[in-house]
Amino acid sequence: MPARGKFLTFEGLDGSGKSTQIAKLARGLRACGVSVTITREPGGTATGEKIREVLLHSDTSGLSPSTEMALMFASRAQHIHEVILPALAEGRVVLCDRFTDSTEAYQGGGRKLGTKPVLLLHEVLCANLQPDLTILLDNDVNATIDRARRRNRKHKNKRPEKDENRFEQENRAFFGRVRNAYLAIAAREPQRVQVVDARGTPRETHAVIMELVRKKLKL
Ligand code: TYD
Repeated sequence: MPARGKFLTFEGLDGSGKSTQIAKLARGLRACGVSVTITREPGGTATGEKIREVLLHSDTSGLSPSTEMALMFASRAQHIHEVILPALAEGRVVLCDRFTDSTEAYQGGGRKLGTKPVLLLHEVLCANLQPDLTILLDNDVNATIDRARRRNRKHKNKRPEKDENRFEQENRAFFGRVRNAYLAIAAREPQRVQVVDARGTPRETHAVIMELVRKKLKL
């Protein structure tokens, strides 16, 4: 049986460059001969992608914060069962775009549900699965607001079926609470969570991440 793989998660505000960094890291790791699985939340499975559409489409209105949190966990429980655990059992390195820290930051912090229900649900529904390493891409709340404005403009006229803007319509105070909640998680779990400054060029940020991951995977 292969040794268990490693579970790496990427967190940060919308527009912090997670997708770019995950793609660059995957290329770097594959070049070293590592088997990589890239996935994301909400989503990552057929059921999860349906839940994602409900959660992110700006036509979805009136979701209570608790419903939002429950749907995030419904997507996650299926994702762990169908994708993450099988990939880890095969010895693969899983790069996951968002995980439970997102729920703690957005629903716990942004929506003010607090940390406790998130950690409880994680224990009950996700068997408390912990990433081996979490990269928190930290940037200014302003960068998120600017990107959200650009995206909202772009999506107004084009491809309404690809609308994933519900969270991007939130205000500065919301994203400020999300960022503070992220930094609190990093302060609480410094062994797992590495804060990476995302304000440099994608190349500079990639070099920092590659080094952290190389150490963790002993490459
Ligand atoms: P994502 O596709 O990563 O968006 P972006 O590329 O803009 O960072 O995530 C979609 C949105 O879902 C994002 O605004 C954060 C939100 N989200 C939560 O609120 N809670 C969660 O648990 C997760 C996984 C995502």
